[in-house]
Amino acid sequence: MGSVVFINISYYFIIFIGLQSALAQLPSTKELSSDGDTCTVKLDTCRLKVSDYPQLKNGEKGEPGNQGLPGPIGPRGLPGPVGSPGAPGLPGSPCKITPVIKNEEGVEEFSSDSNDKTCNLAPEGLESGYYTTGIPPDFFDIYCNMTTRETCIRRSKKTGAYEYNAEKGAFWLSSVGFNFRNLYELDQRQISFLQAMSGLSVRQTLKYHCIDSVPYPKYNTSSAVKLLTWNDIIIDAYPTKESPLFYSVPPETDGCVEGGTEWSSSIIEIRSTYVNRLPIRDVWIADVRGPNQKVAIESVEICFV
Ligand SMILES: *[C@@H]1O[C@H](CO)[C@@H](O)[C@H](O)[C@H]1NC(C)=O
Ligand SMILES: *[C@@H]1O[C@H](CO)[C@@H](O)[C@H](O)[C@H]1NC(C)=O
Repeated sequence: MGSVVFINISYYFIIFIGLQSALAQLPSTKELSSDGDTCTVKLDTCRLKVSDYPQLKNGEKGEPGNQGLPGPIGPRGLPGPVGSPGAPGLPGSPCKITPVIKNEEGVEEFSSDSNDKTCNLAPEGLESGYYTTGIPPDFFDIYCNMTTRETCIRRSKKTGAYEYNAEKGAFWLSSVGFNFRNLYELDQRQISFLQAMSGLSVRQTLKYHCIDSVPYPKYNTSSAVKLLTWNDIIIDAYPTKESPLFYSVPPETDGCVEGGTEWSSSIIEIRSTYVNRLPIRDVWIADVRGPNQKVAIESVEICFV
């Protein structure tokens, strides 16, 4: 019986490719069907017997095939041995932050070998309160609000009282000697650190202490305080053509009045989802009317989350 030689299917495939062009030139190509009958060349129904085509030359070697797909994931290995105990931790601060490490290019990187960085990442069960955090050995105090998970700077510091009058005109507090960083008791690096550790938003509450000076337009004052953000944007009490950002003065906190003769205060609130905008670095005092006005600015709190 003219039986078919069953050979490996991949072998067939190579032959198939090799035969494609050769068969076109064969005058009377014959092949055997699987039951031994002769039939015309019909590669999809007939099985070729290699020895029937002695005139076929080997084709040129093909290009290497593409790499195969990765194999399935192997079985899980056995657990390794228990490691030796780590070194004892630093005492005290549950809200201690991962140190910043400088790489060779001088670029700051955060190492990820600690879980408790700022209050938003502090362990469950930590109580709201004051903690220490920072880049060793440069620690600083923060307040953790564990309800909101905010990391806050609360210093209760204010600028000295500054007396001015209508003749002087509007001015930046920095131009009369006030440095806002002193209010926060944070250096540039610590502020960058808080911003970098925060992912969502930041808010700041300032208290405008006043005698006959208002932060917000009133009866005889048309201009409002302007705030210079950390990233050098100037913001007003309302959106302007220069900036869509604005701060707010909650009416119930707005104790500053024109013509006041005693110290009073108003709260200025600002919040942003761009954490690099805060804290505020300067304040433009715009209410210049009277002969004897006074102002001082206090940073109540800055909270990052
Ligand atoms: C946490 O923040 C919320 C919202 O500002 C405030 O109502 C709450 O009193 C704060 N809690 C503490 C413990 O500071
Ligand atoms: C507004 O200015 C007018 C004119 O100078 C003055 O009479 C008035 O008392 C001022 N109002 C307030 C609230 O200071």
